[in-house]
Amino acid sequence: MALLAPSILAADFANLEKEVTMINQSQADWIHIDVMDGVFVPNISLGVPVTEAINRHAKKPLDVHLMIVQPERYVEAFRKAGAEIISVHYEACPHLHRTLQQIKSLGAKAGVAINPHTPVHLLADVIADIDLVCLMSVNPGFGGQKFIPHTFAKTRELRKLIQDRHAHALIEIDGGVNQENARDLIDAGADVLVAGNFVFSSANPIDTIARLKQ
Ligand code: DX5
Ligand code: ZN
Repeated sequence: MALLAPSILAADFANLEKEVTMINQSQADWIHIDVMDGVFVPNISLGVPVTEAINRHAKKPLDVHLMIVQPERYVEAFRKAGAEIISVHYEACPHLHRTLQQIKSLGAKAGVAINPHTPVHLLADVIADIDLVCLMSVNPGFGGQKFIPHTFAKTRELRKLIQDRHAHALIEIDGGVNQENARDLIDAGADVLVAGNFVFSSANPIDTIARLKQ
């Protein structure tokens, strides 16, 4: 069964404790936290103190997605704030292999996110060192965007790369995930689905999470 990670970016920031409690009580597996710096992406979201605050209430692993330049400067702080999975962007890391080792040395799972324009095959030489690949199915920076259909082909290609290299990375899909594409993404090889607006804009998020989990 695929894992589901609701994205806190779509939550009510004025009621974070309530939103985290809702996720705790739901069938969700992880809490996805989108960190944006206004440089790597054209938006600013939240940082270390808010992650710490979420962690104080969270009963599920924090999956931290760093959409920031020079992420190696902040990896340790997010680990201390409670991150269990830390993903950095391929496009933001000239020394990606070193950054992955840094994340693992802190005891976290090391993830790599790739933008819609970045080909999967660029991960070939590092795939065995990755715990999670986050395939961006929208251009990072904002929640509530439309899913890019080419993601299905990328998911299949990544699944094949992982098999060919005897690697163990999980495939996470991030952006525009909903009831319409979830099944096909899992069939294409996805292990983890991130869902922001589809969960938090729904009338009953706990039910929506349960339906997505099915
Ligand atoms: C986009 C973020 C996503 C976003 C997903 O930059 O990385 O995690 O919160 O939100 P939805 O599901 O609304 O596209
Ligand atoms: Zn994300």
